[in-house]
Amino acid sequence: MPLQILQHSLAQVWVAELRDVKTETARFRSLCNRLTAVLFLEATRDLMLRSCEVQTPLEDCEGAVLGSGVVIIPVLRAGLGMVPPILELMPEAQVGHLGVERDHVTALPRCYYSNIPEITDQTVIIVDPMLATGGSLLHAIGEARAVGARDLRVLSIIAAPEGVAMIEEKEPRVMIYTAVLDRCLNEQKYILPGIGDFGDRLMGT
Ligand code: PRP
Ligand code: URA
Repeated sequence: MPLQILQHSLAQVWVAELRDVKTETARFRSLCNRLTAVLFLEATRDLMLRSCEVQTPLEDCEGAVLGSGVVIIPVLRAGLGMVPPILELMPEAQVGHLGVERDHVTALPRCYYSNIPEITDQTVIIVDPMLATGGSLLHAIGEARAVGARDLRVLSIIAAPEGVAMIEEKEPRVMIYTAVLDRCLNEQKYILPGIGDFGDRLMGT
């Protein structure tokens, strides 16, 4: 199963507050930041390292630097909320952008913007807080592969079993890191219990 669910008490507390319909925009953003930071640390646990020499005030010792770069690709709009905490942890990361919007009736993805840097050996991390049917993410993975991405990982905050199954079937080597796996989708393809429309709650629209 290409899925890792956060096992962390604080993450459960933050997800509960994020779901709450009474949670207002500023607090919603703050919770999104915290969850993203923990997810990013999990997803980058095994990045390849190169050794280097460090001179402390007392002596020389061995240190580590990253073996290759990282490209973050937020899926607009909601994915934008996950970029600031990642850049806080890794200010040197490159950032691509992908605009994908679900049709309100069919729930099918429509891509309206794509600007992804060329990928050579970088690790690519697609960030989108909601994984519902999996259509938007599958499209994003396709765009990243088209510019050369091989080491591909995904950060999601809430995932539905339907979307996870879709990615597992079509892209079994892509690892998804999520804070929580919810019950199912409703008839409008919204996640249950979910949090409603993440983009609207994040942007305050
Ligand atoms: C949401 C979410 C994902 C997509 C997930 O975006 O951020 O991109 O839906 O649904 P799927 O797995 O069924 O494709 P939305 O299309 O609502 O756009 P927004 O972020 O601009 O609000
Ligand atoms: N997009 C959202 O913002 N929420 C859902 O529940 C599904 C897709």
